[in-house]
Amino acid sequence: MLHRYLLLPLLASCSAAVTISVAKSGGNATTNLQYGAMEEEINHCGEGGLYAELIRNRAFQGSTKYPSSLDAWTAVGGSSLSLQNLTDPLSSALPTSVRVKGSGTAGLTNAGFWGIDVRPQKYTGSFYAKGDYSGSFTAALTSSNGKTLASTKVKSKSVSGKWVQHEFTLTAKSTASNTNNTFSLSFDASKAKNGYLDFNLISLFPPTWNDRPNGMRRDLMQALKDLNPKFLRFPGGNNLEGDTIEGRWKWNETIGPLKDRPGRATTWSYEETGGFGLIEYMEWCDDLGMEPILAVWAGLALNGDVVPEAELDVYVQDALDELEFLTGSVDTELGALRAKYGHPEPWKIRYVEVGNEDNLNNGLESYKSYRFAAFYDAITEKYPDIQVLASTIDMTLEGKAGGDYHLYDIPDNFITKFDMFDSYSPDHPILLGEIAATEFNNGEGIDWSDTNFSLYPWWIASVAEAVFLLGAERNADKIIGTTYAPFLMNLDSYQWSPTMISFNANPDDTAKSTSFHVYSLFNENHMTNTLPATSEDAFGPLYYATGLNSETNSRIFKAAVYNSTEDVPVSLTFSGVGRGTKADLTILTAPDALSMNEVGGQNIVKTQTTTIKAGKKGEFSFKLPNLSVAVLTTN
Ligand SMILES: *[C@@H]1O[C@H](CO)[C@@H](O)[C@H](O)[C@H]1NC(C)=O
Ligand SMILES: *[C@@H]1O[C@H](CO)[C@@H](O)[C@H](O)[C@H]1NC(C)=O
Ligand SMILES: *[C@@H]1O[C@H](CO)[C@@H](O)[C@H](O)[C@H]1NC(C)=O
Ligand SMILES: *[C@@H]1O[C@H](CO)[C@@H](O)[C@H](O)[C@H]1NC(C)=O
Ligand SMILES: *[C@@H]1O[C@H](CO)[C@@H](O)[C@H](O)[C@H]1NC(C)=O
Ligand SMILES: *[C@@H]1O[C@H](CO)[C@@H](O)[C@H](O)[C@H]1NC(C)=O
Ligand SMILES: *[C@@H]1O[C@H](CO)[C@@H](O)[C@H](O)[C@H]1NC(C)=O
Repeated sequence: MLHRYLLLPLLASCSAAVTISVAKSGGNATTNLQYGAMEEEINHCGEGGLYAELIRNRAFQGSTKYPSSLDAWTAVGGSSLSLQNLTDPLSSALPTSVRVKGSGTAGLTNAGFWGIDVRPQKYTGSFYAKGDYSGSFTAALTSSNGKTLASTKVKSKSVSGKWVQHEFTLTAKSTASNTNNTFSLSFDASKAKNGYLDFNLISLFPPTWNDRPNGMRRDLMQALKDLNPKFLRFPGGNNLEGDTIEGRWKWNETIGPLKDRPGRATTWSYEETGGFGLIEYMEWCDDLGMEPILAVWAGLALNGDVVPEAELDVYVQDALDELEFLTGSVDTELGALRAKYGHPEPWKIRYVEVGNEDNLNNGLESYKSYRFAAFYDAITEKYPDIQVLASTIDMTLEGKAGGDYHLYDIPDNFITKFDMFDSYSPDHPILLGEIAATEFNNGEGIDWSDTNFSLYPWWIASVAEAVFLLGAERNADKIIGTTYAPFLMNLDSYQWSPTMISFNANPDDTAKSTSFHVYSLFNENHMTNTLPATSEDAFGPLYYATGLNSETNSRIFKAAVYNSTEDVPVSLTFSGVGRGTKADLTILTAPDALSMNEVGGQNIVKTQTTTIKAGKKGEFSFKLPNLSVAVLTTN
């Protein structure tokens, strides 16, 4: 008895190291597993987020679900605003416009997507006006205390009975003290016939990423580039499906001139303009070097409506048309249309996903019996090189079809799924298309009716994700790639948390989450092959994957420690790596399990890199603390 008491503290302070021996060869080629991104029109991820348009409700678009409104707009001075469905609208896609009526200075002011960032740079704007007007317009950016930050006069080209587009630029001289700024467009109503003018499609862009017209917010693109995602799954999950069959995402209504894009009621509580459309998604992929994983609508809407087998052909054809539009030569009808819209070079599509979560919402039976096969057969026949993915793994996958697995859960349940892929066959590769620990550990599991999802990823959740990702890395021959979901959240209007990156109108406030840092570390250290490892110790609290980068011949050890009462000592050898070999060891830690990276706050993830040397037997000896994520790479 006495001995035990004496020995206990001794054991705790020098507990035996976890000894891991990594073989020289014999693992699996893993060039497949990539860390990527996914797009879902949620949380003003695209519009009001990545899509750089600054004017909210720019074309008064509406639907039965979200009727058109004057949301975000107010009248200048004593003028009045009214929505109109004119008999001669700007376009059939944009039937509703605004009438601005007044006596002296009249106009309208927009509050932006909960603020407008103003700094010394050039803003590019345009609007359509209709009505007989001989004066000029004033476009301006103004601070909340009335200071003019930028202003310009635009000479009227308006003529009676015609919609005429006006373009302008605005240059701000200094940085506004906050983002509580507005954009306004005004005119001299005394010089307008009847004292009013009609306006539509009022737009303003800051400088965009790669200076693309109709492009993307530079700071958020930079944040994504910092993660270096290798693929993009788009155009979303639930957003692709739509609430009803008619409400599905229609690729053909997101292309061409902005005035011909009707927009659509998203699943996630707002009307979208369609400005951030199929071509913009492809340009996004081009600009960040991401492999597109294109999802096509598969005959299931979120309300459970399913297209019957006899009526499915038109939707299969629609998917083939979309592929022709993206990949067809200019000699094809739709390839020629793409060229007309500025992209003569065909894009390459290597992955197509059929639908989204077709195991849910009354979808599985029809998906298994005819929906998936109809798309799989048609796409595979016309495009044999495309890897077609089912949107679930709850079914027998035919031919060379792959699947998509989504996981939202409490952190503890990510640990129990560490070995989930060990028994999978590599014949049907899996995409981990949506992965996130969302709800705090509660001993039970995720409760979808509970709204206590975390606002941001928090450290223990990110470590739990790392453990699950290590399970995927160990089986990387079976996994195409993995992405956190959703990716972006505008903190001023969101429906879902947590997300990978959170932001508001102020680019200086963007928060890269704790999970961002974990994904980034694993992504930076890509393994081209796994290498088998042996150890006396079972997995837990230390979890790891071992491999090689065949280009640099660097050996790689990726690890995470979850739920340990003490630091975990590790003794790691790689067969063929001798005494004195140097390795870089990077360890991520955070102040505590509930630490988060918040919008406007500091990064709380501590990244520590040290160089260590292999000992006499080629062993690398180091300790990994509780709740840490680490990567060791030999030089
Ligand atoms: C314009 O038309 C839409 C669609 O029919 C309708 O919902 C809306 O109320 C109309 N708006 C006005 C101002 O008449
Ligand atoms: C922004 O300005 C408006 C008035 O223009 C004011 O009501 C609001 O409180 C301001 N918001 C902030 C965060 O300063
Ligand atoms: C887009 O395609 C759908 C078929 O999926 C069709 O019903 C719709 O009319 C098309 N829209 C336009 C603007 O051509
Ligand atoms: C982590 O530790 C807690 C507290 O001891 C325990 O309830 C939980 O089951 C552990 N989780 C895992 C995945 O081991
Ligand atoms: C949500 O979870 C946090 C962290 O576990 C806890 O402190 C808080 O009480 C929970 N809130 C509700 C409403 O359950
Ligand atoms: C390689 O793949 C096979 C078959 O999936 C699997 O049994 C084996 O454990 C894998 N080896 C490694 C080192 O991951
Ligand atoms: C390790 O992390 C777990 C959470 O998984 C926590 O409950 C425990 O107190 C931590 N142990 C130490 C020694 O910090």
